[in-house]
Amino acid sequence: MKYNHIKPFPESFLWGGSTSAYQVEGAWNVDGKGPSVIDMMNHSEGTAGFTVASDHYNRYKEDIQLFAELGLKAYRFSIAWTRIFPEGTGEINKTGLEFYNNIIEELNNYGIEPIVTMYHFDLPYTLEENGGWNNRATVDAFVEYARTLFEYFGKKVRYWLTINEQNTMILHPGAIGVPKGGKLPTKKELYQQNHHMLIAQGRVMQLCHEMCPNGKIGPAINLTTMYQATCKPEDAIAAHNWETIRGWSFLDLAVHGRYNALFWNYLVERQIEPIIEEGDLAAIKAGAPDFIAINYYSTATIAESKGDASDVSPRAGDQQIMLGEEGVYRAAENSHVGKTRYGWVIDPVGLRLTLRKAFERYNLPILITENGIGAPDELTDEATVEDDYRIDYIRDHLKQVQLALTDGVQVIGYCPWAVIDVVSTHQGYGKRYGFIYVNRGEDDLLDLRRIKKKSFHWYKQVIETNGRMS
Ligand code: BG6
Repeated sequence: MKYNHIKPFPESFLWGGSTSAYQVEGAWNVDGKGPSVIDMMNHSEGTAGFTVASDHYNRYKEDIQLFAELGLKAYRFSIAWTRIFPEGTGEINKTGLEFYNNIIEELNNYGIEPIVTMYHFDLPYTLEENGGWNNRATVDAFVEYARTLFEYFGKKVRYWLTINEQNTMILHPGAIGVPKGGKLPTKKELYQQNHHMLIAQGRVMQLCHEMCPNGKIGPAINLTTMYQATCKPEDAIAAHNWETIRGWSFLDLAVHGRYNALFWNYLVERQIEPIIEEGDLAAIKAGAPDFIAINYYSTATIAESKGDASDVSPRAGDQQIMLGEEGVYRAAENSHVGKTRYGWVIDPVGLRLTLRKAFERYNLPILITENGIGAPDELTDEATVEDDYRIDYIRDHLKQVQLALTDGVQVIGYCPWAVIDVVSTHQGYGKRYGFIYVNRGEDDLLDLRRIKKKSFHWYKQVIETNGRMS
């Protein structure tokens, strides 16, 4: 659709930026923090680990001051469960609460809206040792953890995100890290875990509405659109298969509290469906979200399955690189889009389409909680980073957000990944996303100095003008 008049961004638009606790904070074992699964995983040799990360734990004041200078209206960050409950449940660690209270206070002082993710991949290790999400006790632990957060921060935080990218944890568990011993859960286990997370999420969304009358809460899913490789009807079926299984099935459960029929039949046919106990679906349904959050990086292109092992491509996949699944879909190429050096498709128009589809399906406000480009940024002699590729990427995506707004989609904010350099999930510090450069290498911590990139100045101006883009 072409328009004569493009709608402006709403005055209340949440111009933001994102991080997650384990990728930015460091201080992995201080002030009573317990280990999380991330702390105990095997990490690739030669890539930065998460022990120091960007040292935000010690430098949060300086960082938030920079976020204020950037003009952020919102900051999306996660709370490390293991700072609050070092073993996932039991005694509260008051120092952990204090740390996040300081962050929230600091943000509020600058008028920056805190958007809090409760769980971003970093399950407490003690819970993992007791079965992790396979064990229903983890559901209760998550609800109690959430109750504590609502109790302490419910008056100061308005926007809550339950679980970051549940679909990535279930569909690409290796992208988050490989457990000690190297064995990833089976699909059967993963879909049981998924079911338990959904119950936990439903209960927590319900609790939020009971405890925080002004609070708004929603799930954060890695969502995208799947294009069909050709106009062959079988390609269209395969694209629909994977778009449903990878994305909609998670949101259908979060929003409507029901298993999508196609998804359920896929699980049953493969004998990987979860055990559903009495009351589970009611608990999932009881927690209606106020908005949905989406993390969008790229689209994918899908061809008909040949129904044999060749459907699965031998290359390495991750949360954005589709691998194919026997009898379901094959990954295909798209000659109309570019790619990052890590093989992630760059498709701004795909964001508009994904927003339209999600709004049409759920009729809920949408908050974009991640979008951005990873690159091995280089410091120049003038001590800055000429990251024009990042400016181009964000500009092109924001233009499509504006078109989606013009289409009628209710987009309430945009929080690119990441506001400051953080450790990538599995590519260390070589793959940076921030508007603020952190001066460290993979192993060499250098001085961890903060340096504004060219994109910092550009994004600042976009925020100042409520979305005018040069
Ligand atoms: C998202 C995650 O999937 O992608 C983030 O929520 C992650 O935690 C981001 O960092 C970018 O991925 P990567 O692998 O490049 O760090």
